Amino acid sequence: MPLPRYAYLSDVWRDGIFDNKVVFCTGGAGTICSAQVRAMVHLGANACIIGRNVEKTENMAKDISTARQGSRVLGLGGVDVRKPEALQEAAERCVKELGAIDFVIAGAAGNFLAPIDQISPNAMKSVIDIDVLGSWNTVKATLPYLIESAAKHRTDGRTPPAQGTGGRIIFVSATLHYAGTPLQAHASVAKAGVDAMAMSVAIEQGPKGVTSNVIAPGPIAGTEGLDRLSKQSEGEAKKIPSGRYGTVKEIADATVYLFSDAANYVNGEIHVVDGGQWHIGTAA
Ligand code: HXC
Repeated sequence: MPLPRYAYLSDVWRDGIFDNKVVFCTGGAGTICSAQVRAMVHLGANACIIGRNVEKTENMAKDISTARQGSRVLGLGGVDVRKPEALQEAAERCVKELGAIDFVIAGAAGNFLAPIDQISPNAMKSVIDIDVLGSWNTVKATLPYLIESAAKHRTDGRTPPAQGTGGRIIFVSATLHYAGTPLQAHASVAKAGVDAMAMSVAIEQGPKGVTSNVIAPGPIAGTEGLDRLSKQSEGEAKKIPSGRYGTVKEIADATVYLFSDAANYVNGEIHVVDGGQWHIGTAA
C-alpha cells in the first residue's frame, strides 16, 4: 500500500502557490530575471519589474502579464539601481499599486569583457556600483516590506511557518569568482560582494523570518551573459559536466523552489545552477 502523499511530499507543488503575493525584481527586463518573474506570475503572483530602459521594461511587463489571466505586472522603467532614492520610490509605488512586496529578486547587473589592466577606474566602479551597491540599495528599499510579509507567518520560532510564507530575497549572482575568470575581474569582484551581502542578510534578518539566498546561474542559453561574454560552441557545451548549456526555465524552476514553502528552512544558501561546470574549474 502506498504511503499517503503528505508523508513524503510537501504540499507546495501546485498552481496558485503564489496567489496574492507580490514579487519585486530589479533587472526584470533581462532574459533570466524575466523568466524568473514569469514563472512566479504563472503560479499566482503579481509583479513589479524595474529597469533602466523605459520601453524595454514596460514591454516586458506587458509580455510577462500574459503568463496568467488577470495578473498585474507593473513595469517601472527609468530606474537605475545605483540611485537609492529611485529604488525607494519604485518600492513605494509597488506597494501602493500591488499592496505588498513578499519576494525580491535582485537581478540587475553590468558586465563586459576587458583585461584587468585595461579596465578604466570608471568602468570598474560602474560594475561594482550596479551589482554590489545596486543590490544593497534593493535590500534597503525593500527590507521593511519583506519583514512585514514574513511577520504575517511568524510562529513561536520553534515550529515551521504556515504555508504561503513571504519575506524572501534571491540575489542573482554568477560562478565567475569561484575559480577566477579572465577578462571579468570587475564582474567577479562584484558578484563575490553580492554573495557576501546575501549571507549577511540571511544571518542578520533571519530571526525576523526573512530568508536570503543566491542563485548562481552558469552558462544559460539565450542570455546576454552567454551570447556577449562567452565563446559558444557545441564543443564548449560538451565540456560542461551535464553536456549542454542550461535553460532559463531551469533558473525559473530554482527560483520557484527557493520562494516556495519547500525552501522554508533554506537560508544563506548559494544555489548553483550550472550543470556542474564550476567543479571543473571554469565558470560562465
Ligand atoms: C571596457 C567599458 C566597456 C567595455 C563600457 N565600458 N563598456 N570598458 N570594455 N566593453 C566603460 C566605459 O568606457 C565607461 O568608462 C564605464 O565603463 C561606464 O560605461 P557607461 O556606458 O558610461 O556606463 P553605464 O551606462 O552605466 O554602463 C554600465 C556597463 C554596461 C556595465 C558598462 O555594460 C551596462 O550597463 N550593462 C548592463 C547590461 C549588462 O551588462 N548586462 C550583462 C549582465 S550579464 P570610462 O572610463 O570610459 O568613463 C551578467 C552575467 C554574468 O552579469 C555571468 C557571465 C557569463
